[in-house]
Amino acid sequence: MKLGVVILAAGKGTRMQSALPKVLHPLAGRPLLAHVLDAAAALGAAQIGVVYGHGGRQVPDAFPEVKATWVEQAERLGTGHAVLQAMPAMAEMDRVLVLYGDVPLIEPETLNRLVSDTAETRLGLLTMTLDDPAGYGRIVRDKSNRVLKIVEQKDASAAERAITEVNTGIIVAERDSLAQWLRRIGNDNVQREYYLTDVIGLAVADGVTVATTAPETLEEVAGVNDRAQIAALERYYQRGLAEKLMLGGTTLADPNRLDVRGSLRCDQDVFLDVNLICEGRVRIGANCRIGPNCILKDCTLGPGVEVLANSIIEGATVAAGARIGPFARLRPESEVAEGCHIGNFVEVKKSHIAAGSKVNHLSYIGDAEIGAGVNVGAGTITCNYDGANKHLTRIGEGAFIGSNTALVAPVTVGAGATIGAGSVISRDAPAEQLTLTRAPQATIKGWQRPVKSST
Ligand code: UD1
Ligand code: CA
Repeated sequence: MKLGVVILAAGKGTRMQSALPKVLHPLAGRPLLAHVLDAAAALGAAQIGVVYGHGGRQVPDAFPEVKATWVEQAERLGTGHAVLQAMPAMAEMDRVLVLYGDVPLIEPETLNRLVSDTAETRLGLLTMTLDDPAGYGRIVRDKSNRVLKIVEQKDASAAERAITEVNTGIIVAERDSLAQWLRRIGNDNVQREYYLTDVIGLAVADGVTVATTAPETLEEVAGVNDRAQIAALERYYQRGLAEKLMLGGTTLADPNRLDVRGSLRCDQDVFLDVNLICEGRVRIGANCRIGPNCILKDCTLGPGVEVLANSIIEGATVAAGARIGPFARLRPESEVAEGCHIGNFVEVKKSHIAAGSKVNHLSYIGDAEIGAGVNVGAGTITCNYDGANKHLTRIGEGAFIGSNTALVAPVTVGAGATIGAGSVISRDAPAEQLTLTRAPQATIKGWQRPVKSST
């Protein structure tokens, strides 16, 4: 059975009050439509057709890597018209599932259930029962509870409006039949639209029994119309993620104050303090402790790493037992080995710092290779940039760099070397020796401070 998925994403999203097409607004750091594309992929869709319109090429252009057929719906004449535009792309499919670019949290499990519950018939609907069904298409059933049709709110009689079972919009149908029904629907209704929902009545007239399934939660079929609704779904999504982490053995100081925009994997007994933001692919090893207000992006932390408050780690690797922060910033291509200490107001960029080395205070380490057991004193700066090019600083194992040293790259400090505080090191410093550049200290005998002249 080849399953095709059609995703409707042509709507304007007026209530977003935005120049950005609605389906490109982010949820958990990714466009709404990306979440729906993921669900389609998780189902093993053999073909994905996305119907776009408002915002033009912006929507397809946002997904250069996605294997989908992008179908433009120039005029938005209704959901039925929209699906019809994508039917040529479904030519090879056995069945077609219709999803929505603005219904981001739909669960593949629910869709699998809908598809398998519909195996024996040509049409299946995902429906739900709401206390307040206002705005939704109502599911009209006969006395023996068989689905007869869907009536849109605007076209419904008072009796039909009282029905609380509603259409989520998600349907699955046998492809040939769907194509035929879609060609037969008209727009003789209050909104002058071609309603996808009219295929139900046509199917029933053809003797088809319509299967129905309900979603697990209302959030998974919730559509987004404005930014407040995105924010509500964002909180729901983040809460779910936090629950999963906790059940998997991670302690969260406050499950409401963690935001994951990407994928986060924690090994056992990790502690995450409040206000952590994770972006991209983040891996945290066992027994790590992450302090409050940190940002971790595309990084890997080995076991037992401690990240203290207000630190930012991006594109870096930190090995077991290292301690980072507070107020540290590790930038891309930084590798911090076992047991290192990177302290407050230290920025590290594209540098390798070997085991047990310490850069504890107020330093910039860029384009550097630092050996094991090095102590970099407070205020040390690698002067890696000459205004045109970047240059490398090498510091050998066991070296001691005095405070407030400027290392003018390219430069090498030998193993075991000591650099006197306040030096500007612009030539290589030999191993095991003391090197320093320092103006001799002088005291001017009898010198007096100027006094204010009286006028
Ligand atoms: C639709 C259903 C209704 C269901 C509700 C659930 C129809 C006729 N009605 O109503 O039964 O209860 O969803 O939310 O299907 N779209 C296009 N092109 C179009 C028209 C719509 O891409 O020409 C997209 C919209 O961007 C939107 C989705 O399809 O994402 C639904 O369209 P909308 O007009 O909002 O349908 P509803 O009135 O919500
Ligand atoms: Ca809608």
